[in-house]
Amino acid sequence: MTNQEVAKITLGENTFDFPVVQGTEGEKAIDISTLRSKTGYITIDEGFANTGACQSAITYIDGEKGKLRYRGIPIEVMAENSTFIETAYLIIYGELPTRKEMSNFSQKVLRNASLHEAMMHFFDGGFPFSAHPMAILSSLLNSVGCYYPYMVTNQREQDLEHFDDAAALLLSKVRTIAAMTYRMKNGLPLIYPKRDLGYSQNFLHMMFTEPYHEYYPHDDITKALDLILLLHADHEQNCSTSTVRMVASSGANLFASVSAGVCALWGPLHGGANMQVIQMLQEIHATGDDGTKFIERAKRGEAKLMGFGHRLYKTYDPRAIILRGAAEKVLNIVKLKDPLLDIARRLEEKARSDSYFIDRNLYPNVDFYSGIILKAIGMPLDMFTVMFAIGRMPGWIAHWREVASKPKGKISRPRQVYIGSPLRDYVKMRYREGEISSDYESDDHKSHGFGSSENASAKA
Ligand code: SDX
Repeated sequence: MTNQEVAKITLGENTFDFPVVQGTEGEKAIDISTLRSKTGYITIDEGFANTGACQSAITYIDGEKGKLRYRGIPIEVMAENSTFIETAYLIIYGELPTRKEMSNFSQKVLRNASLHEAMMHFFDGGFPFSAHPMAILSSLLNSVGCYYPYMVTNQREQDLEHFDDAAALLLSKVRTIAAMTYRMKNGLPLIYPKRDLGYSQNFLHMMFTEPYHEYYPHDDITKALDLILLLHADHEQNCSTSTVRMVASSGANLFASVSAGVCALWGPLHGGANMQVIQMLQEIHATGDDGTKFIERAKRGEAKLMGFGHRLYKTYDPRAIILRGAAEKVLNIVKLKDPLLDIARRLEEKARSDSYFIDRNLYPNVDFYSGIILKAIGMPLDMFTVMFAIGRMPGWIAHWREVASKPKGKISRPRQVYIGSPLRDYVKMRYREGEISSDYESDDHKSHGFGSSENASAKA
């Protein structure tokens, strides 16, 4: 007698058994992969709030308790001890690297920092200055693959064979594309990466160095940026990562999949929120409101408190707690008394005591404080979501590989409940509304009876 837990679903007179799947931390799921064949029914769950799309070994989140772990290691421990590139290695390969593995990985990322020279044309009239950096990023991440055709064959085995090179290349070049996009949009000369700088320092160099003035960021600024990237590195089945997995499930290559992930991340409810947080704080500041009026608007459903709420976290997003401390530190370094931080703190305090937010478990999420740090570092607003994409690249890469490596992996193809028009005929233009009267007699007066032809073909 197995002690396999079973879920029973009763439909009318019949009761059906479905196996229960249990995860490492005891979370449980009903495996309904035979539901339709057994019962003719499907499930429906708009936004997939109750639906597991896969089993994954990369990141664990306990939203009720505010826990987040990368390959089993708590985010607080990673934030305290690791770097973005070491975290990227852990998320992609599943284990912390040895000294030799870390050196090889860092060198591979460093060697891949520059772009194929032909890509420079994209930054010379390839896009209007007004183009949003996320549109450019998504386009160029796909374009990069064109220069490495052996990595983008859409043949699983070959794409997996070149996975390590493709992963290091994307991790490195996403940063260069982002920096060159910023330079192009602002009419600044493109700055090439340097061989002797770390990941985040090289990015800041490419962003802010001038041909006549080398930019040397304060160590704590570089660390704050590296921390933001580390904290964004993965977050299990969020909208953009699920998009990457969906695209990967069709057999598409890594470059196409992460390019699609950038598009999903761009949305204001997802990665675009960090930009919206600053715009919200600026609006509150400009109107002289201390946040009270804005909160009342949010409670009336007239506005959203951007940077608050989360599909999973029903307490603080652990990343927000870490970033709140980092924001304070960065502002002290840049000696910036940013009134927006004071407003952010007041909003947080007010929301924490207001039943509207408490009843809905609306706490600050990762985006609430990241925007304040990015602004203090000098990042322009339209680059905020690009920073999120750079940070999320390791997660997207790891999830692509998890899908691509699954033997007999199935293409993702959800079902639906159809609520459209019942079967009806095709009506020729002359008999539609506004045309001549429908009592006009003629041979072709009859509508083209698809119904009968559908029935006829069914009988054929
Ligand atoms: C990220 O999924 C991830 O892991 C994402 C992410 C990652 O690392 O990949 O963590 C990154 O995307 C963080 C979230 C960033 N987005 C924002 O900060 C935008 C503001 N937040 C909301 O849009 C919202 O909270 C979501 C989208 C984050 C979550 O939405 P849900 O889970 O679909 O919840 P919901 O919209 O159904 O809201 C439930 C209730 C509603 O009120 P009622 O209809 O019950 O009266 O809460 C209200 C909502 O109106 N509500 C808010 C609110 N968020 C939800 N009210 C005011 N302000 C808000 N921010």
